[in-house]
Amino acid sequence: MEQNNRADVLLGLQWGDEGKGKIVDVLTPHYKMVARFQGGPNAGHTLAFEGKKYILHTIPSGIFHRGCVNVVGSGVVIDPFIFSQEIDQLGFTTDELKESLYLCKKAHLILPSHRVLDAAYESVKGELKIGSTLKGIGPAYTDKVARTGLRLADASSDDFDKRYNELKNTHFRLAESLGFDSSELKFDGHSFDDYEKAWFEGLNRLLELPQVQSERFVNQTLDSGARVLAEGAQGTLLDIDFGSYPFVTSSSTIAAGACTGLGLAPSRIGEVFGIFKAYCTRVGSGPFPTELFDKDGEQLREEGQEYGSTTGRPRRCGWLDLPALKYAVMINGVTRLIMTKADVMNKMPRIKVCIGYKSGDQVSEVLPFDYDPAEFSPVFEEMKGWETSIEGLESFEELPQALLDYVKFIEDYVNVPVDVISTGPDRKQILVRQGSGFLQRLLLK
Ligand code: GDP
Ligand code: IMO
Ligand code: MG
Repeated sequence: MEQNNRADVLLGLQWGDEGKGKIVDVLTPHYKMVARFQGGPNAGHTLAFEGKKYILHTIPSGIFHRGCVNVVGSGVVIDPFIFSQEIDQLGFTTDELKESLYLCKKAHLILPSHRVLDAAYESVKGELKIGSTLKGIGPAYTDKVARTGLRLADASSDDFDKRYNELKNTHFRLAESLGFDSSELKFDGHSFDDYEKAWFEGLNRLLELPQVQSERFVNQTLDSGARVLAEGAQGTLLDIDFGSYPFVTSSSTIAAGACTGLGLAPSRIGEVFGIFKAYCTRVGSGPFPTELFDKDGEQLREEGQEYGSTTGRPRRCGWLDLPALKYAVMINGVTRLIMTKADVMNKMPRIKVCIGYKSGDQVSEVLPFDYDPAEFSPVFEEMKGWETSIEGLESFEELPQALLDYVKFIEDYVNVPVDVISTGPDRKQILVRQGSGFLQRLLLK
């Protein structure tokens, strides 16, 4: 038994959509198991290979590699309707997945009526609207914490229908008490009744997949000496505790979330891979210090195709925010940085990067408790762009000097090396730095 074998964690350091899915896909051949530890179908993780693009919402991003065991951990919330749709969209059959996809019995279910509540809460929030994906995430986690939720394994119990109906009725009463009229609400194009019917069909399909207690399954895999990669969703700045509350999601998106969401002891965490974009994006409401409202912002959105993978909404775009990145590195204990989407900035003659926030004549490198743009403004360092294409490069060392300078500036600020740079959406577009140790041993032949 290998007591010292540890799981590596991969997570986002910004507001989500950093390219986590792509990087998990690149790393998977070197892992036996990929385990999602939190979030639900609010996530959209994009993988691209052999000219095709796939978007994963709840299924872990290791699913396309033969021999990889994929686990949906106890910290995840599952919508059986979306899950079943996802299996079809990816082109799998349930039978094919029986060997490679395991669901935790303890994972909570997102009921159709959780989505009604999500819409109801958003409708009464006015200016404080979160810009939720409206997938029922907040209400499902609320029931979990309130100890009123339904778990996957509950679906096999005799009184499931009764418990389902009681909870559904409570949700409708709550929505009504908020003055919310749900009669016209659509769920991915369906009426409530149609969606509920399809939800139960999806649930029956899910029950054909193997169920495990993810804490035992993951720890036993580590005991056997095999490698485990824990896959995060969303990003650090959307974390329920350390994100820009209340404009956050309802789960622990940080490294500690891998412990609670998979049943891993802190001493069993090995490397922490922090994924960040060469700039910033945010979808939904909430503070965004470096947000751009000009041509540079539009250029980032168009070149980077910054439209939500889950909702199709245009993403807000801005320059890289180093104090926020440094904060995320601290919270997660990041050991290796992986930068994505630098290629999106190929045509920019100058690039800005935020190094602090100014209030009056004070400049601070600390992300304020509440970032109010009326009080704070970002302080930028301007740098030269590289103005050349990088998508086809084959080694890190061939990257243009201006980009290497940008990377060095980031590393000096946050004190963690950037070991890998992704230069496009495809799994082949990945450059690993010579001498980067762990990731070089893993990825470079
Ligand atoms: P995730 O939620 O963190 O997995 O990220 P998303 O999939 O929501 O968004 C990232 C988007 O950027 C997807 O469309 C990816 O295909 C794409 N992408 C990932 N890495 C790169 C990169 O290095 N360059 C470019 N141009 N696109 C990338
Ligand atoms: P991935 O895993 C980007 C945002 C929503 C909203 C807030 C709360 O693809 O990086 P929720 O649906 O959880 O109630 O929404 O969080 N959000 C994401 N933004 N990427 C995601 O996931 C997100 N998941 C939720 O836009 O602002
Ligand atoms: Mg995404």
